[in-house]
Amino acid sequence: MKVITVVSAKGGVGKTTLAANLASVLAASGRRIIALDLDPQNALRLHFGVPLDSIDGLSRATLAGDAWQSVMFDGVDGVTVLPYGAVLEDDRRRFEAYIDHEPLWLAQSLATLQLEESDIVIVDTPPGSSAYTRTALCAANFALNVVLADAASYAAIPQMERLIETYAAPRADFGGAGYVVNQVDLSRQLAKDVLKVLRHMLGGKVFPGVIHQDEGVSESLACDTTLIHYDPLSQAAADFRTCGDWLLAAIDAIPVSPGKVA
Ligand SMILES: Nc1ncnc2c1ncn2[C@@H]1O[C@H](COP(=O)(O)OP(=O)(O)OP(=O)(O)O)[C@@H](O)[C@H]1O
Ligand SMILES: [Mg+2]
Repeated sequence: MKVITVVSAKGGVGKTTLAANLASVLAASGRRIIALDLDPQNALRLHFGVPLDSIDGLSRATLAGDAWQSVMFDGVDGVTVLPYGAVLEDDRRRFEAYIDHEPLWLAQSLATLQLEESDIVIVDTPPGSSAYTRTALCAANFALNVVLADAASYAAIPQMERLIETYAAPRADFGGAGYVVNQVDLSRQLAKDVLKVLRHMLGGKVFPGVIHQDEGVSESLACDTTLIHYDPLSQAAADFRTCGDWLLAAIDAIPVSPGKVA
């Protein structure tokens, strides 16, 4: 099993969109993919056709002491979905206090699923620093940092780098961080300039392509599905496929730790 944790210092940059669509393209490569939502917005499931009124998910299952297998959904494109679930405010705070106290909660819970070596877990997180991002980084083999080609994203990069450095980098089975620039409009000079600066700053860690701004992305969500499913011939669908190939090469290059299935 390899765990990809999708993170960003800033909100609304496209983490959930990338987590869902990359899960979809990686599933098309024949690997078993588990899309796991660690964000109380509980939005990842919406890309996979999980019913809007479903309240089940890993937050409720954890608080109730139920096995995660009971809240795994078969989503579109063959992706297995583990939603966050819907919880009352008091329960959410209880759950957050629990995982804040047990940063290894995600790694330990994933171990109970006994996944195969080739399986991939993609974890969606809320923006910035939180108990969710910490536990997700403590379980990560790879951190995928989503940024926009704008000054605010650029300025926030060191903040996320510090979190990765603290919670993921010390582990031998952590393969490093990669960056994807999303919602790019190459007709804008500022986007082109910031892209150049990001590539210079981050070098080989940046996905060599970009994910273009594409209306089909939000349309596909409105139709409860992934872009790959909704409009496979669109520009962004092609971008997601290329990005999926890059991601797969990066995580398959991470060595499996001796004595453990990583
Ligand atoms: N490449 C894209 N082209 C056009 N729209 C996009 C693209 N990527 C994301 N969006 C839109 O941007 C909005 C924010 O995306 P998303 O919810 O995935 O961000 P997020 O980082 O997960 O947000 P949050 O920090 O709240 O979790 C959504 O409306 C989504 O449809
Ligand atoms: Mg999100």
